[in-house]
Amino acid sequence: MCGIVGYVGRREAVPLLVQGLRWLEYRGYDSSGVATQDGNVLTICKAAGRIDNLVDRLNDSPIAGSLGIGHTRWATHGPATDANAHPHIGGEGVVALVHNGVIENFRPLKARLQAEGYVFSSATDTEVIAHLVASCLDRQLTDAALAADPHEPLVRAVEDALAQLRGTYGLAILFRDYPGVMIAARLGSPLVVGMGEEEHFVASDASPLAGHADKIVYLADHEIALVTANSLSVIHRDQGLVVHNIHTLEPAAEEVGLDGYPHYMLKEIFEQPESLRNAMRGRLSTEEGTAVFGGLNLAPQQLRQINRFVLTACGTSWHAALVGEYLFEELAGIPVEVEYASELRYRNMPLDHKTALFAITQSGETADTLAALKELKRKGIPTLAICNVVGSSIAQAADGGVYLHAGPEIGVASTKAFTSQCITLAMLALHFGRLRNLSYEAGRRIIECLQQLPNQVARALETNDIVRRIAGKYCQCSNFLYLGRQYNFPTALEGALKLKEISYIHAEGYPAAEMKHGPIALVDEHTPSVFLMPKGFVYDKVMSNLEEIKARGGPVIAIVSEGDTRAAELADDVIEIPYVEDFVQPILNIIPLQLLAYHTAVLRGCDVDKPRNLAKSVTVE
Ligand code: AGP
Repeated sequence: MCGIVGYVGRREAVPLLVQGLRWLEYRGYDSSGVATQDGNVLTICKAAGRIDNLVDRLNDSPIAGSLGIGHTRWATHGPATDANAHPHIGGEGVVALVHNGVIENFRPLKARLQAEGYVFSSATDTEVIAHLVASCLDRQLTDAALAADPHEPLVRAVEDALAQLRGTYGLAILFRDYPGVMIAARLGSPLVVGMGEEEHFVASDASPLAGHADKIVYLADHEIALVTANSLSVIHRDQGLVVHNIHTLEPAAEEVGLDGYPHYMLKEIFEQPESLRNAMRGRLSTEEGTAVFGGLNLAPQQLRQINRFVLTACGTSWHAALVGEYLFEELAGIPVEVEYASELRYRNMPLDHKTALFAITQSGETADTLAALKELKRKGIPTLAICNVVGSSIAQAADGGVYLHAGPEIGVASTKAFTSQCITLAMLALHFGRLRNLSYEAGRRIIECLQQLPNQVARALETNDIVRRIAGKYCQCSNFLYLGRQYNFPTALEGALKLKEISYIHAEGYPAAEMKHGPIALVDEHTPSVFLMPKGFVYDKVMSNLEEIKARGGPVIAIVSEGDTRAAELADDVIEIPYVEDFVQPILNIIPLQLLAYHTAVLRGCDVDKPRNLAKSVTVE
């Protein structure tokens, strides 16, 4: 899940490539590089580490050219070194190439190319593609005499090379002996082409096009784009030259700034009252006592026929799916199965014609979620997406869906997308419930609860200083447990994930009662347990679980409803938040957990927005 960018036009390429890579750095940030073509000279500059390292090298030895490609990496094969950074060279410097994806059969191809005399300088799967394109071009050029179009040998060579690959790719390729032309290709990894005035851009998503191009083409699988400053032709592997749909890009917000916050994650945590309002805007009908959606593309009759939902996702979105399971069962009486997308795509799950799928994803590019959706779509199952990125691959592939309108989420650790996913699932459950047996009164009460949430979340955010103090107390611990029941079980899982991914502390989430069946053995005075125990029908049960931990000397941090003094008598630290109904508790209770993870990571000196080993959207399997 890397970020790739390309430019061909009148302007110097490097400044545009570097700016584009900064936009795409959330996709991977362990090394980066660029290549430009100036006349018949291909020049490469790359560096391990952040883009600033690359910029330093470019300042030391600038490279010129108005045609170039760039890459920011999330390592799949080979450590984060200069040699493994992209771009990679093919043949004797005849090809330069950047790649986002994974080539599964790169080892046998590498062995064959080495036997043909190609020399490899990296441990990556990508370098195989570069040499393969060079070797195919060699073969093509012997027939070049025949080609009417001078660029045809390039297209043929790339087609021949791609036909030998097994895996996924988003590619941008330059050719030393063919000035002014770039080839891009897609299978599985997202790739867009931006169309400007006498210039074209290629990128993994639309963000680098902000301010440069407002016309965009989404490449589909098995498509190759031949791009020059003034022309774009798209060739499909089977259909040949295709007429590409040109979309108008929403005027992108200028560079999403930090607005005075030290990190995007903290900014996005504090944006949640607004992002929740955005998710609800125009979707709650007090008149009908229900929620309304414009993009499901299924008529009420069809929606009423559905008697089972499969919710699939990865990571934080999977935790939101678990919350969705409770909501759909409670508010709509519809059975739900929640499936990890990476498992669902290969499972032979029995599915009848009354089953529908919801794919839940912030980025809309997560490879496993896209593949699971395509698999169930292939079986004729109606597929719906809950997604935050307009025009993303999953949004395009689904039959219908709902956008979160949470705004760009830059911090790798997902925060506002989670609460927006939960409130959207609550509105969907209300919608389906009101198509069945949920009464108008009940619908109205649910709407009132939802509409109060932004203010209640704003009040929960006021615990920021208390949470920072508590983080200071436990930030040197090596293990944490997160415990909750019912709606707060997935919330506990999400709280543990937040701590793990940005502070690198080991943390587990459990249904509170599950502790007795093993995990309680982990409890000691150095292992804090975070209890989610707002007032509600399982409060007393959770209190008993808390007593079991205290009886074994475990420190307890309790998230409780305002005014709850009982828990305060037992817990070591208490964070009080507004009381809300069970079905919306995940949206409130996650707030102090997001803050706890954030402050713990800051106190441990971690890179909160770009945690090690992670990337914002996982576009490889
Ligand atoms: C969450 O903080 C992580 N960034 C990660 O688990 C993420 O939720 C997962 O990769 C799914 O991403 P998506 O919602 O964009 O599909």
